[in-house]
Amino acid sequence: MAALVLSVSAAAQRTFVNIETANTQMVLGTDAKGQLLFLHYGAKIGRADQFEDWNSYRRTDYSTDPLAYPAQGGRFFNEPALAVKYHDTDQNTELVYGSQSVSEPKSGVKRYEVLLKDVKTKLEVKLIYMAYVKEDVIVANTEITNGGCKAITLDRYASSAINLRAGKYLLSHFYGSWAREMQIDREMLTHGVKAIENKQGVRTTHNENPSFMLSLDTESFSENDGEVIAGALAWSGNYRLAFQMDETNQVSVLCGINPDAAAYPLKKHETFTTPEMVWTYSLKGAGQATRNLHDWARNHCCYSQAEICPTLLNSWEGAYFDFDAKTLTDMMDDAKDMGLEMFVLDDGWFGNKYPRNNSKQGLGDWDINHEKLPEGISYLADYAHSKGLKFGIWIEPEMVSPKSELAEKHPEWVVSSKDRELTTTRSQWLLDLTNPKVQDFVFSIFDNTMQLAPGIDYIKWDCNRHVENFGSSYLDDQSKFYVDYIQGLYSVMRRIREKYPHVIVQSCSSGGGRVDFGALSLFDEVWTSDNTEGLSRVFIQYGTNMIYPACVTGSHVSAVPNHQSGNVTPMKFRFDIAAAGRLGMELQPKNMTEEEKTFARKAIESYKGYRDLVFGGDLYRLADPYDGQHYALMYVSKDRSRAVVFAYTIKYQSRTPIFDLRLAGLDADRRYKVTEQNVEKSCWWGSGKVFDGSFLMNHGLNPDMKKVYDSAIFLLEAE
Ligand code: GLA
Repeated sequence: MAALVLSVSAAAQRTFVNIETANTQMVLGTDAKGQLLFLHYGAKIGRADQFEDWNSYRRTDYSTDPLAYPAQGGRFFNEPALAVKYHDTDQNTELVYGSQSVSEPKSGVKRYEVLLKDVKTKLEVKLIYMAYVKEDVIVANTEITNGGCKAITLDRYASSAINLRAGKYLLSHFYGSWAREMQIDREMLTHGVKAIENKQGVRTTHNENPSFMLSLDTESFSENDGEVIAGALAWSGNYRLAFQMDETNQVSVLCGINPDAAAYPLKKHETFTTPEMVWTYSLKGAGQATRNLHDWARNHCCYSQAEICPTLLNSWEGAYFDFDAKTLTDMMDDAKDMGLEMFVLDDGWFGNKYPRNNSKQGLGDWDINHEKLPEGISYLADYAHSKGLKFGIWIEPEMVSPKSELAEKHPEWVVSSKDRELTTTRSQWLLDLTNPKVQDFVFSIFDNTMQLAPGIDYIKWDCNRHVENFGSSYLDDQSKFYVDYIQGLYSVMRRIREKYPHVIVQSCSSGGGRVDFGALSLFDEVWTSDNTEGLSRVFIQYGTNMIYPACVTGSHVSAVPNHQSGNVTPMKFRFDIAAAGRLGMELQPKNMTEEEKTFARKAIESYKGYRDLVFGGDLYRLADPYDGQHYALMYVSKDRSRAVVFAYTIKYQSRTPIFDLRLAGLDADRRYKVTEQNVEKSCWWGSGKVFDGSFLMNHGLNPDMKKVYDSAIFLLEAE
């Protein structure tokens, strides 16, 4: 559809940009000076021109009204979205409205473009808002063009800014570390700036995640009630999400690439495009905000959308580096026997001069280790395929071990700063993906690996370190490093996707170090965490799935005592939590008892019967693990005819409390048969019986789950 261009010069009359989705509205409008103000984001308010005579009653001789894209300069002195240094050393920018256009790139999606111009220079800023109507999601980013000035430097270049007016702001955000990703912090915003950020260059989402939820006018987090704004930045590099509460108690939220050590030069006529910031607004609490994000992710962002993926056995925790072909084919036999659908060969299969028999060497030398696997990868892949299993393999293409032939041949490809310490993490260095030659090399690693055997179905792409003492021998301007690295990575991934559109690619980064919507638009799934221990997974998956849908979060059943935490949880509990995501196993099946294998067969079979709900259903969180004894959630099919409920006891609190498990999202007027899965004797008296949706939602289940690590899965099918 042709773009409708409405070019209105900034005059006394206000001009509005009215962005609408099914239930939300964002309104921008000019002021008398032609500046573009941020007027509203939230529930529907009707005609934008009701703001015609709007007055904020702020002292605007003292500061500006909230700007749609605040720049450093003029009367603005809060955190700027944009800060530009011009060649004549001027550092002020004053943006005014130029024009706007609306188009409909595909059905259900509207694209709004708003052109802003600096009053003095030829700097232009295009604000882009994509409104995903049905999902109630608005995705915003910015194109900054040096329209003809001599070279300029962008000191700050946020993707998007919004302004909120509420009495109170409860911020929920995610923190953690390796093996403890996506824990939740909830805090009230106070005056000043609170920032969620990362500066590690790559592997940027272990410690914090570029996403959040903001509950308005409340001090308590609610799943079902109240206004919630959720946001997530689609970028796998350094980010900064800043929340500034000013003296009027309004909060501006500014999200984008972290400006630290990243001043970006822009030559004449060059344009910088910022990553996308994903916004959603919910009037029905955090639960609806999550469902909006999940719908948007599945319909418009995630590479594989909600395609069902095969259940798998990964070799890592079962074999580590210690295997030969027989070890692996035995594992495949067991995988097949338990009903799994894919085998993934993890680390340890490559390197000859420096064989990869531990994590200290060999990265970069992606040739089959002939001593360990003289039969080759094709023998293994053929074996898997002959059994009806798919076959996957691990690579870590962004990395190089100091002890590797690659490091000997191409020391100039290593990220390093001249005359400064070249540090190792997990005995490895990072390759400089800003360099197009390195990009070609990284592409060739993927490409060559795919040629090792016909029909490789799955690649696990790992990234096990971050950036330290950054520097590139390729770049003239080192401050481009952090941005160009991620753009280099994305460009390699785009080439891979062109050549291999159907191979399943996992984004792993020491577990959940690269979990963001930028990565998810190019990878099919993420490795949620290296920690597969059941209790830890409750918190990791609760947090991760608050933003990212379960169809992308890999979750495996591993052995006990758990290799990370040492904790021992029952196999049923481990299966029941892994089954709430992309189910896999990661252990040596030889060490399982017959009884455990029988249970695994049953659990995997049962999972296949409801995994479409996990992948494509609406998520309702029923019990918050941070609140006490239980964690519970359910996925409901879009037509509300089927649902699956997961419930876990995570603490023992004596034998007296009764678990009150009220369901959600069902059709009150339909009748559902409830069947507990994978048990001889159900923990609920109602299993196998039929109940009204209203009964299940308003009265609920009271499963007898008093002991720590009791768990249950209930399948609901409408009659
Ligand atoms: C990282 C990953 C693990 C495994 C190892 C292999 O730690 O997160 O899943 O692949 O590397 O070295």
